[in-house]
Amino acid sequence: MIKVLLVCLGNICRSPMAEYILKDMVKKQGLEEQFYIESAATSEGEIGNPMHTGTKNKLQQKNIPCGDHRARKITKQDYKKFDYIIGMEEQNVIHIKKIVGKDEENKIYQLMDFSNQPRNIADPWYTRNFDKTYEDIVEGLEGFMEYLKKEKKIDR
Ligand code: 4NP
Repeated sequence: MIKVLLVCLGNICRSPMAEYILKDMVKKQGLEEQFYIESAATSEGEIGNPMHTGTKNKLQQKNIPCGDHRARKITKQDYKKFDYIIGMEEQNVIHIKKIVGKDEENKIYQLMDFSNQPRNIADPWYTRNFDKTYEDIVEGLEGFMEYLKKEKKIDR
């Protein structure tokens, strides 16, 4: 089982979008049973809140199912529980490390490091551009899936 935790600042825009896109991707590839996927925040500001309507609308437009998401904050225990803890931007990675401690098992990544053009995923909370966020996240997650296949982490 590959356990993936997607992380952003508030867990209402980018990381839940990434969570449901990745769940949909693995399902469509028949790999659903090999994955456990969640998302979390680095801040406390949005805890308990549902997804941003911009994220929800984008997922609906793409026919990607999403559940009754509620924002939660990453915990120190998550470091033990998950294999891949993936931040959406550099600041997320810095904050994740502050919360979970030293990345001794090299589990913490930045999503776009799996793409050919490593970069931050802009925060649509500020940009309001959920289309760009969606495209960037898909690119990063496709790179992540390629990486897992190359590293032979997936049975197929
Ligand atoms: P997210 O976006 O990190 O992609 O969920 C944000 C959500 C809330 C805030 C900032 C970013 N906020 O400042 O409340």
